[in-house]
Amino acid sequence: MSTVKELLQPVELDLETLLNDLRSLIGAGHPILQAAAEHLFSAGGKKLRPGIVLLISRALSPQSELSARHRRLAEITEMIHTASLVHDDVVDEAGTRRGVETVHSRFNHRVAVLAGDFLFAQASWHLANLDNLDVVKLLSRVIMDLADGEIKQGLFRYDSDQSFSAYLEKSYCKTASLMANSSQAAGVLSGESDDHLKQLYQFGRNLGLAFQVVDDILDFTGNDQQLGKPAANDLANGYLTAPTLFALQEHPNLSVIIEREFSQEGDLDEALDLVRNSSAIRKTRDLAEKFARESRDAIIWMKDSPCKRALIELPEFVLSRIY
Ligand code: IPE
Ligand code: IPE
Ligand code: MG
Ligand code: MG
Repeated sequence: MSTVKELLQPVELDLETLLNDLRSLIGAGHPILQAAAEHLFSAGGKKLRPGIVLLISRALSPQSELSARHRRLAEITEMIHTASLVHDDVVDEAGTRRGVETVHSRFNHRVAVLAGDFLFAQASWHLANLDNLDVVKLLSRVIMDLADGEIKQGLFRYDSDQSFSAYLEKSYCKTASLMANSSQAAGVLSGESDDHLKQLYQFGRNLGLAFQVVDDILDFTGNDQQLGKPAANDLANGYLTAPTLFALQEHPNLSVIIEREFSQEGDLDEALDLVRNSSAIRKTRDLAEKFARESRDAIIWMKDSPCKRALIELPEFVLSRIY
């Protein structure tokens, strides 16, 4: 199975340009905020979201060209994503991200809150300057959804009665909305038909859901080093993701230790063992596979090109992170 770098190879040069452009977009003016943003941009990350926008943009262009506005859309997408991570790490009290210290650990909480705001604000400004109202609506909706997702997640902490649909809705808000709406926005800038725009949205939505479900599995099966961020962190924080929800169906008693917020010695380890040794991981993987298939099926209409082939392989790549 290919690595993300191999998969994004058709837009490799575009992604290099993106990194430099992001640096100059953040610009001078706020040295500390700039240093904070630069800290995370330099650490890399998979660049999956701008990669998707760039692949779609080139795949939809007859000569496989990339317009300045498509390029800017990819940059805005990564800015919004990075801003959400800076804030998320404050909320989750996480010490590492992309294999380096989080912004609030390296600097402080005040800087992290402001740096996240600063990135969201920059993204909004550049978004407005694309001069396309449909695209503004799609991407500003994402910023609303991101906040909504974090709030929903916070409200449901340690709540073992929460429904599966609430989990999926939260996952849509936190992860799938950005992929769905930025995929559709790339199509808008390419002048695609309404039907194709719907399909692009579905591609991103299902890819995002598959990605989040897989990320929720990795939290149970991976380690800090592999993930570049703390493992086994979701349950410890009271975030009940798909593996825990499936395990609760199998072991209803798990709810007792969750509801008491792991306050007794050994509670957390016991809960982690119950989830890891139930059929929950397998059931969660089946769910991720379903989303991956639906994502792939949504873009079969694209004409053949190296970028299309990469897009078609993306859902499978997202799944391959768990094997
Ligand atoms: C992390 O996304 C946030 C989630 C939705 C789980 P990525 O794993 O794509 O983060 P980077 O950009 O590669 O660091
Ligand atoms: C990541 O959420 C941030 C967003 C998608 C907004 P999580 O808290 O679930 O993911 P990690 O584990 O920190 O990457
Ligand atoms: Mg987090
Ligand atoms: Mg979080």
